Amino acid sequence: MILGIASGKGGVGKTSFAVNLALALKLYSVDTIIVDGDLTTGSVALALGNPLPSNYIQDFFRGKKNLDKILFSHPLGIKVIASELSISSVKEYPLKTSLKKLLKKRKEFVIVDMPATIGKETMYWLNVVDKVVVIVTPELNSLAAALKLSIACEMLHQKVAGIIINKSVQPQKEKNDVNKIFGNIPILGILRYDENVRESMAIGKPILTFAKYSPYSIDMMNLVAMLTNKNKPKINPLLTLFGPWIKEY
Ligand SMILES: Nc1ncnc2c1ncn2[C@@H]1O[C@H](COP(=O)(O)OP(=O)(O)O)[C@@H](O)[C@H]1O
Ligand SMILES: [Mg+2]
Repeated sequence: MILGIASGKGGVGKTSFAVNLALALKLYSVDTIIVDGDLTTGSVALALGNPLPSNYIQDFFRGKKNLDKILFSHPLGIKVIASELSISSVKEYPLKTSLKKLLKKRKEFVIVDMPATIGKETMYWLNVVDKVVVIVTPELNSLAAALKLSIACEMLHQKVAGIIINKSVQPQKEKNDVNKIFGNIPILGILRYDENVRESMAIGKPILTFAKYSPYSIDMMNLVAMLTNKNKPKINPLLTLFGPWIKEY
């Protein structure tokens, strides 16, 4: 199964979501591969932190390395196909369709962190993934861009499997607003606004390992429990209360 994490607009939380989703799935015993689909400004490797991979998806597209070579086993327990951090990645590559075939053969659950804009690269990934989840923030510009993306998906016969509302501050109201705009596309989950996501990205340590009782981490674990039909983790209410301040640097 190849799941695409998409958005119409950048900065809504795709990379944070993709990385922490992979870690949460791992905690529920699902092995994952996370693919950085943003070939020019990819940031999955940075979000996961050290050690950084030394082979990249661009090497595959250039025909220089095969899939096994670009698959990096991160010590956090997930496999990563990273995107080059250097400026040389700002180039055009022939995007090989064989990647889809090779990823489909894998036994792991594959998560693609897709590029933000609705351009050629996004269209490429829409043909690679089996399902798309769209991340939105409760702002009009993010919702408008996501609506355009869902139309682009329809054009490629790619159904949007669901929407995640991220950086949520008024869940019920935002849920109603999103339902009004997207009608029949289900809202899969709501992730609260949490300053620790920002800090976790800044230090290159995913929030699930950095502040595991912070609101975002709790929302993510509950979401993945629901999606995998597992029981929600039982957390001591005191840990929930002090969660935002319990951090592991
Ligand atoms: N739930 C959240 N609460 C607060 N900040 C968040 C949340 N999700 C993401 N962020 C922050 O928003 C910024 C963009 O997130 P990122 O995952 O890089 O988005 P994208 O990949 O869509 O561009 C980052 O600074 C990140 O730390
Ligand atoms: Mg990103």
